[in-house]
Amino acid sequence: MIDIFNLLIFIIPAYVANSSPVILGGGTPIDLGKKMNGKRILGDGKTIRGFAGGVLAGTLVGFVISQLYRIPYFNSEQFVYVAFLLSLGTMVGDSLGSFIKRRLGIESGRPFVLDTIFFLAIALVFAYNYAPKEYYDPQGILLLFMITLILHPSTNLIANRLGLKKVPW
Ligand code: CTP
Ligand code: MG
Repeated sequence: MIDIFNLLIFIIPAYVANSSPVILGGGTPIDLGKKMNGKRILGDGKTIRGFAGGVLAGTLVGFVISQLYRIPYFNSEQFVYVAFLLSLGTMVGDSLGSFIKRRLGIESGRPFVLDTIFFLAIALVFAYNYAPKEYYDPQGILLLFMITLILHPSTNLIANRLGLKKVPW
């Protein structure tokens, strides 16, 4: 198993992808305002710019990390690709989470359990075949979920206090 420090370095692209749309997002929603059975497919909280911005920001940060730090079991090129997959998985998971929320009748911006860790699960699935298996030890993954469960609400609260996010969750 990889140590927690490197595990956190590994997952930074996913965290960046998940948090950057608050700043980079806005404009045209991914679902183009369309509904499904009377409810929005994804809602106004999921925009094309936010999705693309999240993938780009996460990948870019992955590239910067790969240039500054030697990540165990990775060569730098491989890490950039994995950063891209983690970021893409994060944004797909984020949209999928909203899709499920809308089907359950939960309005955009309302909190839901899926908000905190669902993106992480999908990100890890996306990167699974391309990342060294040392990063997928069950104990490490469990730790990552627990840390994210604590970190997600904390960063959202900070973003709210900084005026970046309308709601504190
Ligand atoms: N955002 C965006 N595009 C995305 C994801 C997020 O523009 N693909 C922006 C939106 O301004 C959104 C904010 O980031 O309101 C916070 O993201 P999130 O909490 O994921 O969305 P919610 O507004 O809570 O909507 P939902 O209930 O669908 O999760
Ligand atoms: Mg939200």
